[in-house]
Amino acid sequence: MLRLIDISKNFGGLKVLDRISLEMKKEKLGIIGPNGAGKTTLFNIISGFLKPDSGKIFFMNENIIGKKPSDLAKLGIIRTFQIVKVFENLTVEENILTIVDDLSILKDFDLEEKRKEKAKNLSQGEIRRLSIALALVRRPKILLLDEPFSGLSKKEAEKILTIINEIGGNGTSIAIVEHRMREMFDAVDRVVVLNGGKLIFDGYPEDALENKSVREAYFGSKYVKG
Ligand SMILES: Nc1ncnc2c1ncn2[C@@H]1O[C@H](COP(=O)(O)OP(=O)(O)O)[C@@H](O)[C@H]1O
Ligand SMILES: [Mg+2]
Repeated sequence: MLRLIDISKNFGGLKVLDRISLEMKKEKLGIIGPNGAGKTTLFNIISGFLKPDSGKIFFMNENIIGKKPSDLAKLGIIRTFQIVKVFENLTVEENILTIVDDLSILKDFDLEEKRKEKAKNLSQGEIRRLSIALALVRRPKILLLDEPFSGLSKKEAEKILTIINEIGGNGTSIAIVEHRMREMFDAVDRVVVLNGGKLIFDGYPEDALENKSVREAYFGSKYVKG
């Protein structure tokens, strides 16, 4: 479905992505790696917010490099942001109505009771759910979630995980960026690990923990505990 070939990106002298090749099928893929590994940059490139210095990206056999985020969204590549973007002064339902006429998604996201509430009055977990709902009503073929659990309690994170697991059955491919490993393991079929702009692992989540390079990347950093 999505194929990245030798994607590289530099900022100034800093090699942020170094020849990343990655294929994504209809699956739930976890993209993990310590802070600064290049995860958000990778999402920015896939979703058209940044252009790579070199490499190719094919989405359903079409080269998509150079396309704008809005065009890619029309093709079905939709992402959420690490820092949540919703219309804060609109109510929950008004936020959804900016995109579709159908409010049934609010039920799936347990936001029905909050539908008349302004987005700025929502809890962290609720606003995160709203942001994912806003991405989903656009009917993504590929949904890119950038740290959907950050800042959330375990309970709120689990709620989002449950929703994400349900979406998995609807033929949407999902890529989830996360810097902590544990949160990911129940949610995804496969993980890739980025470290210092390089892809150092691609495989089953349970094998990632046993992998020497992955352990070095994590246990050598301050993000050991997750
Ligand atoms: N627009 C930018 N200009 C310069 N450096 C950037 C920019 N965006 C990201 N970086 C740098 O690129 C590296 C990777 O960042 P990022 O992709 O955000 O990592 P992650 O999401 O894995 O934490 C970091 O060192 C970051 O400081
Ligand atoms: Mg990031």
